[in-house]
Amino acid sequence: MPGEGVTVFLELDGQGPRYAQLTRALKAAILDGRLGAGTRLPPTRALARDLEMSRITTLAAYEQLRAEGFIEGHVGSGSYVAAIETKPAPPPSARTIAAPSRYMRRARIVQDRTIGLRHHGLRYNLQYGNPQTHPALSDLWARELARAATYPQPGGSRAQGLLSLREQICDYLARRRGVQARPEDVLIISGTQQAFTLTARVLLDEGDAVVMEEPTYFGARQAFAAHGAKLVPIRTDAEGLVCSALPRKAPRLIYVTPSHQFPSGSVLSLQRRLDLLRYASDHRCWVMEDDYDSEFRYDSRPLAAMRSLDHSDRVIYVGTFSKVMFGSLRLAYMVVPSALRDDFVTAKYLSDFFCPTIEQAALAHFMETGGFERHLRHATKELKARRDALIEGLHRHAGDRVEIANSQAGMHMVAWLRGYDHARAEALIDYAHERGLGLHPMWPHYFKRPARPGLILGYCALSTVELGEAMQVFGRCLDAFD
Ligand SMILES: Cc1ncc(COP(=O)(O)O)c(C=O)c1O
Repeated sequence: MPGEGVTVFLELDGQGPRYAQLTRALKAAILDGRLGAGTRLPPTRALARDLEMSRITTLAAYEQLRAEGFIEGHVGSGSYVAAIETKPAPPPSARTIAAPSRYMRRARIVQDRTIGLRHHGLRYNLQYGNPQTHPALSDLWARELARAATYPQPGGSRAQGLLSLREQICDYLARRRGVQARPEDVLIISGTQQAFTLTARVLLDEGDAVVMEEPTYFGARQAFAAHGAKLVPIRTDAEGLVCSALPRKAPRLIYVTPSHQFPSGSVLSLQRRLDLLRYASDHRCWVMEDDYDSEFRYDSRPLAAMRSLDHSDRVIYVGTFSKVMFGSLRLAYMVVPSALRDDFVTAKYLSDFFCPTIEQAALAHFMETGGFERHLRHATKELKARRDALIEGLHRHAGDRVEIANSQAGMHMVAWLRGYDHARAEALIDYAHERGLGLHPMWPHYFKRPARPGLILGYCALSTVELGEAMQVFGRCLDAFD
């Protein structure tokens, strides 16, 4: 900025009227300290000449800056930068500012304890949660989406989810899970994970007790812990949650995976289901039934969902399409007790209004026309073949060095290592990793490390041939530790 007075380079941004451009450029120079408090600005006439603009323009810019308090003084007697504190504050970073809320402070802690998804880029990775790929399903789904995208989307209250999808889910639950639900009891959500956060919002205040199985699903544990709940682990055995160990003082919520205890694999026995429902009704607490992979049961018919036995309307049932369709679909559903229904719909609305309706419409049509259950039959057959290949490979290459637990369902199984302590098991996992085999320990799923080390073996992302090869590598790793 030449002329009498200070010299500062002014860059006009070319946007809008020139007086406004000049005002912005001068403000920026004042705010970032290039024009300090008390600095005399050049006379408007000189500035106009130097910037090749009319004096009316420079006068208008100075007037604007004067009106906003950036400069003081008068035309004729000189204009000076006002005494304002202009030292720019250092930009905040996640670490330099205090956590914005108690929720976030807790969330940071639980996030730091996230079960590590180590082992990227391995030849064979038995990571639980890696998805099964379905090329045929992808084609069908693309067609369903294209079809649904041309539909006019219904108006009205959408928080609860598309009626056509809720109707299909009710029909499916009645036939396959023994659950009698009405469409008005169903809420469409974006994954089971949202069921945890909505349930926490609807039911839990900070410090409220939530009973969880030991071991348990980290997604639920993290969501409830971040919300400020007091987590109360209760042991499980071959029949699932040990109901006789439930606390005397009523918790607010009990989170369970009755069809396929996560991750140990046990099935909650009928007697325990009845005991748990009785406890919930006597103690006036709520039970959350996470039925995450009940579709995949290989050697026996599944027990009906616990919700089907619930005559006191205390069970919040959750099912997901993540396992059956695509993990990235992010659609799941809840069947909520009537007393809580309106609150759940409100919580969903406040959280994200509603789930994408095109995907909901596509899924409703896919279910209605039978494509969904055809896919389910196909996927179950394929998964059973993978499960069998893994068991056969374990028998052949690991023999009695491992004990296979509850493998009749789902997408993973548990193998306990015989004669190992945790340190040796970690060394084995590292050794396998170096040889391209991703193994994953059981202990991070526990509140308290179990006495013996085990592995959680996710098998749905590898073919039967790859699983056979993976077990060969596993056998060689075990040999090295014998
Ligand atoms: C116990 C359990 N519940 C639920 C889910 C599915 O969660 P979402 O529906 O959020 O994908 C999983 C997936 O890993 C799980 O292991």
